[in-house]
Amino acid sequence: MSFAPARPLEQLYATRSSIKWRRYPADVLPVFVAEMDFDVEPAILERVAQTLQHSDTGYLDSAGPLAPAFADFARASWGWDVDPADIHLATDVTVGVVEALRLALPAEGGRVVLTPPVYPPFFEMVEEADAIAVTVPLLEDHDWSLDLAGIEAAFSAGADAMLLCNPQNPTGRCHSSETLQALAALASRYGVFVVSDEVHAPLAHPGTRFLPFAPIAREAGCRAVTVTSASKAWNLAALKCAVIVAADEWSASLLTALPQELAARTSILGLHANVAALSCVGWRDDLVGLLVENYRLLEAELAAHAPSVRPVRPDAGYLAWLDFRDAGLGDDPAAVLIEEGRVALNSGLAFGEPGRGFARINLACNPSTVIEAVRRIAATVSARSTAALAG
Ligand SMILES: Cc1ncc(COP(=O)(O)O)c(C=O)c1O
Repeated sequence: MSFAPARPLEQLYATRSSIKWRRYPADVLPVFVAEMDFDVEPAILERVAQTLQHSDTGYLDSAGPLAPAFADFARASWGWDVDPADIHLATDVTVGVVEALRLALPAEGGRVVLTPPVYPPFFEMVEEADAIAVTVPLLEDHDWSLDLAGIEAAFSAGADAMLLCNPQNPTGRCHSSETLQALAALASRYGVFVVSDEVHAPLAHPGTRFLPFAPIAREAGCRAVTVTSASKAWNLAALKCAVIVAADEWSASLLTALPQELAARTSILGLHANVAALSCVGWRDDLVGLLVENYRLLEAELAAHAPSVRPVRPDAGYLAWLDFRDAGLGDDPAAVLIEEGRVALNSGLAFGEPGRGFARINLACNPSTVIEAVRRIAATVSARSTAALAG
């Protein structure tokens, strides 16, 4: 392993000021928001420190060195050939998604397809783009895949755009080649613009093939952009830098109309951190190895101590979707777990209606934290079932 275990929890509480460590009192174990407990990779630290040492702390006006760095990473990782000229900066992934939607949607009342359970801010991003969300839930009984028939119905009813989450947060699902090809064909047939959020893609687990949507879209004649960043896979959210990449000529031309200010609103420290991160694949590989071990540990601990809680095995990333519907904690298990178990997960309800009875856990932590989180979950479930029997 080239990266060290995370520092002890007391130290993280004492030194970090982010939501993860400030939202709840210190007796609540935080396994909610998508931030890692691990230290930032040393080469990234060095590059950011150097940028500061050079007082290179002004404004950006283009993707500069990040464009070729991203193009190289995309080719080496996924065989995706990106023209560096098609790469634009955005403050972060969420801003990139909103700006792309604003360009493609009608001035008012655009309709954007979302596939819940999905990253909660997607709902807000659609609102920010003055559009209306049209939800087509994932198919739970088909391993949380996209509901292509439902998506076609939404497209034919007049949707303007779709916000794809690939890999999907919270299920960690990498959508299959067949699914993405079928989606691109539908989007092409109905003239629907697709924005693909691929921020978790660098963390695909061994044995899984992550497929970027852009080359599939281009092949199918579908209009699409990808928005991504090193912000998740290398834990750099604070540094505020993402890229918007056009998949096809129409979208490349669309992106030339992005507000010029968007580059200036992106952090120069973030740009250098992203460039450094994209060459830190050894650290990333070690991290993925640990995440897979943590997921196995989660499965084993739940099976042993809280078998009514069923995890969904992710294909990528460090988040796991937990099904509490048979655990007796009601519609919002995360609320009960914080109150009674002193462990903070994300509430499933925030991910849309299909999240009722679910919660999301974050595994970017030491194995001891996974064990402690399950201990608290198990104690809460068992106390509730004892109370229910007594009552
Ligand atoms: C699917 C998805 N998109 C975007 C983000 C946020 O990325 P950023 O901080 O670069 O806006 C997250 C964070 O967890 C996410 O899971």
